[in-house]
Amino acid sequence: MKSTNFPIGIFDSGIGGTSIWKEITALLPNENTIYLSDSKNAPYGEKTKQEIINLSIKNTEFLLKQNCKLIVVACNTATTNAIQFLREKYNVPFIGIEPAIKPASLKTRTNKIGILATKGTLNSELFEKTSSTINKQITVKETIGTGLVELIEDGKIDSNEMKNLLSLYLNPLINEGVDCLVLGCTHYPYLIPQIREIVGNKMEIIDSGQAVAKQTKVVLEKNQLLKTDAIKGKHQFYINKNKDVLAMMISENSNLINIDEKDF
Ligand code: SIN
Repeated sequence: MKSTNFPIGIFDSGIGGTSIWKEITALLPNENTIYLSDSKNAPYGEKTKQEIINLSIKNTEFLLKQNCKLIVVACNTATTNAIQFLREKYNVPFIGIEPAIKPASLKTRTNKIGILATKGTLNSELFEKTSSTINKQITVKETIGTGLVELIEDGKIDSNEMKNLLSLYLNPLINEGVDCLVLGCTHYPYLIPQIREIVGNKMEIIDSGQAVAKQTKVVLEKNQLLKTDAIKGKHQFYINKNKDVLAMMISENSNLINIDEKDF
């Protein structure tokens, strides 16, 4: 029986999943968390399905060794390629991140949705399945964000290189009349100001962060794993490359947060 004081485990191919960590800790400030950033192996989006499954197993086992009571796969690529396998193999609840195409399909007025995601996500069976459930009159314009994750992992969010890549990917969507842009990778919410500069107010930008935090709460409650005391949570981060960029991303100077750079 897991204790409610045990941490929520969160993993991502890198630092992008901290966008999800921020939403979870905002909604559940008393929960303890352990975040694993596999930055050395980023991006997952260019790997084969089997490689993504193997890395997801490695990350899950690391978190389970530290008694995590629930695991959030804070990576669209790992969710779409590996979560089914993880759910079958391990006896712990998993929360995944699926691109928010359904909410976008309810909001679009031009019936054209854009989705920016990795090759691994867009080519996955789970993504295919989700896309096939939306209204047939809606066109989903898929765009692979090649190179974006690498630039974010290197801390080059505000670089000219980033702006050029984003213009290359987003201008065709503007020209085609897309009015809702789904961010299908947990790294991309960090690019919202840069994306906004290019698309102006022509598109609504949709990401899954808040929905994932709410779902985490629901699943904790359902499994009687929600921490019930009023003591603020402690947050342990493990990263296997570039600790400084992670520290900058979470930009918190708090004695409740600890970051360790080590191999795993
Ligand atoms: C990647 O590692 O390629 C991106 C992570 C994601 O899909 O959220």
